Amino acid sequence: MTDRVLVIGSSGQIGTELVEELRNLYGDDNVVASDIREPQIEQTGPFEILDILNKVQLLEIVEKYNIKEVYLLAALLSATAEKNPAFGWDLNMNSLFNVLELAKDGIINKIFWPSSIAVFGTTTPKENTPQYTVMEPSTVYGISKQAGERWCEYYHKQYGVDVRSIRYPGLIGYKSKPGGGTTDYAVDIFHQAILSKRYDCFLSEETTLPMMYMSDAIKATLNIMRADSSAIKIRSSYNIAGMSFSPKEMAEELKNSIPEFEISYSPDYRQKIADSWPQSIDDTHARKDWGWSPDFNLPKLTTTMLENLEQLLSEKNNV
Ligand code: NAD
Ligand code: SER
Repeated sequence: MTDRVLVIGSSGQIGTELVEELRNLYGDDNVVASDIREPQIEQTGPFEILDILNKVQLLEIVEKYNIKEVYLLAALLSATAEKNPAFGWDLNMNSLFNVLELAKDGIINKIFWPSSIAVFGTTTPKENTPQYTVMEPSTVYGISKQAGERWCEYYHKQYGVDVRSIRYPGLIGYKSKPGGGTTDYAVDIFHQAILSKRYDCFLSEETTLPMMYMSDAIKATLNIMRADSSAIKIRSSYNIAGMSFSPKEMAEELKNSIPEFEISYSPDYRQKIADSWPQSIDDTHARKDWGWSPDFNLPKLTTTMLENLEQLLSEKNNV
C-alpha cells in the first residue's frame, strides 16, 4: 500500500495552501487533509473530520490510509489562546504528544510541527533575534510553542523521532481567512482595503513585527521536510525570516495601489502580545543548514495579495 501524508488542521490558513502544494508534489490521493471543521475550498483528494485530541480516531485514520508523514497544524493561535488559556495549553501540547507518540511507536516516520516567533519574550533581543537567545514567552501560546520545541528535541534525541520545525513569523495569504493571531491584522487589512478602503488596526502604527508571504512559508516547510535528515542540525525549531514592517508601513505600501485607503488605530489586548515579540529575525542557521531564502518583500507581497484577493472576491461575488 502507498505511503501517504496526513495534514492535521488542514482547513486553516496554512493548511489550505499546504495541502494544495503537497498534492501537486505527491498526487491528490496521497495527501489526506483533516480538520475538526469543513475545508474552506473544494478538495481534490481525501478529507477526514478529525479531532486531534482523539487518539483513537487519529490512529484509525493513520492506519486506514497508511500515513507515514504528518504535518500537524492544529493549534489555538496567540490571541485566541489568551482568551482560553487552559484549552490553548491542552490543544497545543496534547496534539503534539499524540503525533510524537505515533512516531516513537514506529507507526509514522516523519513529522512537521510549526513553532512561532511567540517563543520569544520581552527579555529577548528585539532586533535580528538570534537562533539561540533568552526565551521567556509571556503568552500561553508562546509558552506552549516553547515547551513543544523542547519536546520535539527530546523525542528526537531519546527516541530518534524525525521531527522538523520552523518558527514561522506572521503569515500573510489570500486563500483563507485569518485564524485568531496577533499578526493577522496584516491579512485582514487586505480584505478591508479592497472591500471598504479603510481599516481600523488593533495594533499601534509603529508596531514592527516579522512577517512572511504564505508561499514563502510553504516553500520553507516543503524544503525542510524534503532535506536530508543529516542536514537538519536543529531539532527544536529553526528561525526563519521574510520581511519586517509596521501597520503604518503596510498602509503606506497599500496606498501605492489604493490611494484613497485610510487607516486608523485602536490598539487592544493584542498590543501587549505584539510588544513582547521580536521585530526582526536572524535566520542564518536555516540558510546554512537547508538552504532557506525568501522570495517576497513588502512591495511584492502587497501587489501579489491585492491581485489575487481582488480576483478571489470578485469570483465569489459572481457565484
Ligand atoms: P488556523 O487557526 O488558521 O488553522 C488551524 C486549524 O486547526 C483550523 O482549521 C482549526 O479548525 C484546526 N483545529 C483546531 N482544533 C483542532 C482539533 N482539535 N483537531 C483538528 N483540527 C483542529 O492556524 P494557521 O495560521 O493555519 O496555523 C497553523 C499552525 O502554524 C499553528 O500551529 C500555528 O501556531 C502555526 N503558526 C501560524 C502562524 C501564522 O501567522 N498563521 C505563525 C506562526 C505559527
Ligand atoms: N502569527 C501567529 C500569531 O499571531 C504567531 O505565531 O498568533
